[in-house]
Amino acid sequence: MGGEQRIPQHVAIIMDGNGRWAKKRLLPRSAGHRAGMNRMIALSEHVFDSGVRFCTLYALSAENLRRPQEEVDALFSLFREYFKKKVELLKKKNIALKVIGDRTLLPADIVQLIEGGEAYTAEGTRGTLLLAIAYGARQEIVQAVNAAVAAGRAVDAEGFSRLLSTAGIPDPDLIIRTGRERRLSNFLLWQAAYAELYFTDRLFPDFGNRDLDRALADFAQRERRFGNV
Ligand code: IPE
Ligand code: IPE
Ligand code: MG
Repeated sequence: MGGEQRIPQHVAIIMDGNGRWAKKRLLPRSAGHRAGMNRMIALSEHVFDSGVRFCTLYALSAENLRRPQEEVDALFSLFREYFKKKVELLKKKNIALKVIGDRTLLPADIVQLIEGGEAYTAEGTRGTLLLAIAYGARQEIVQAVNAAVAAGRAVDAEGFSRLLSTAGIPDPDLIIRTGRERRLSNFLLWQAAYAELYFTDRLFPDFGNRDLDRALADFAQRERRFGNV
């Protein structure tokens, strides 16, 4: 075809399949989460190197916190182990970090790490990495409705967007879900209105940089009409 490839401005990834990846190898689920964490760190570098400006990673849903305590604890331990290294990488690459989700559901030391990481990378101008942790789209929408009610004024769609945790961030152009399921699982329901959806059977720890390239190439072929002709 030639010409320039259309790069999505904002790519969001539902990182699913860590548990099944571990199960296939007769490993504990936590080993799948560790493999997923390593993949996430390398993959997010590749996303920005591909020219994407905003990348949202769905790491943990609010509903995931109802999993057995052992698994939730393992996820928090991994977060404590990897977070600072990841923040250093972002800082070096001039990328800002923003964490979305319900912080009241998280342990205090993790909230502190998040706040530190956001402040440390706030000047990043090359792009923004949004990490969704303890995130639920319905909860986010309800929170925004309550904010509008408390302010005592009606809002239009743009005004409503500004009450969400993604205020100021363009809507995702492309949402990728790994791990075989074809659903959004309470992710960015409002923001996904005109997102292109891409599903792959690859379990997240196996989702390589080349797989991302394939998803970006697929996106480049799509015709987006936004309701127009
Ligand atoms: C995705 O992997 C990561 C989280 C939700 C924390 P899963 O843990 O959901 O993996 P599967 O779906 O059981 O394979
Ligand atoms: C979606 O995966 C949430 C994340 C990847 C963080 P789940 O494994 O929680 O989704 P369901 O339960 O299969 O819908
Ligand atoms: Mg899953």
